Amino acid sequence: TIEGPLYVAGAPESVGFSRMDDGSESDKIDTLFIEGTVTDTDGNLIPNAKVEIWHANSLGNYSFFDKSQSDFNLRRSILTDSNGQYVAQTTMPVGYGCPPQGTTQFVLNKLGRHGNRPSHVHYFVSAPGYRKLTTQFNIEGDQYLWDDFAFATREGLVATAIDISDEAEIARRGLNKPFKRISFNVALVKEQPKAPSTEVDRRRASA
Ligand SMILES: [Fe+2]
Repeated sequence: TIEGPLYVAGAPESVGFSRMDDGSESDKIDTLFIEGTVTDTDGNLIPNAKVEIWHANSLGNYSFFDKSQSDFNLRRSILTDSNGQYVAQTTMPVGYGCPPQGTTQFVLNKLGRHGNRPSHVHYFVSAPGYRKLTTQFNIEGDQYLWDDFAFATREGLVATAIDISDEAEIARRGLNKPFKRISFNVALVKEQPKAPSTEVDRRRASA
């Protein structure tokens, strides 16, 4: 599904695990663990796949565009470990709308449409020999899940955030309060010699 306009290249890179948030919202919003694997379409695990993840904070704002956030807050590149797994510790994203005074919302108003998106998390997933995947998951329970103005929700891209309140599990994660967990696995398609490139040339912000 769609990339959207808010990707920024150059996020910090790590192997297997990354904490994505800078801690500034830990007290007011749930901690979220996102866990998954990257495989090929036959289910073979792909170590060292690059999983680029970016999402909004509790106000629906993205770092870089929202200058009140620290650099690369909620933006990370995680390379899958030797088991093809990645884990991100972050905060629950909140959906957002088009800027109310902007030209897009102006047009939407004329059409009688809202400009809101459900809570979601963006991905690029890439590995040598495979077609780069641009995707996102949208979170179950959001009022705009199936009424996304950007039409990005897809069957198979709806994630359920499961509440984890088990004390031992909380302690194992180094936390002191219940958290949420989302499982999101990705399958990459092998590169096809004559297929159009999955690398899209477009204007992007750079930090
Ligand atoms: Fe987004």
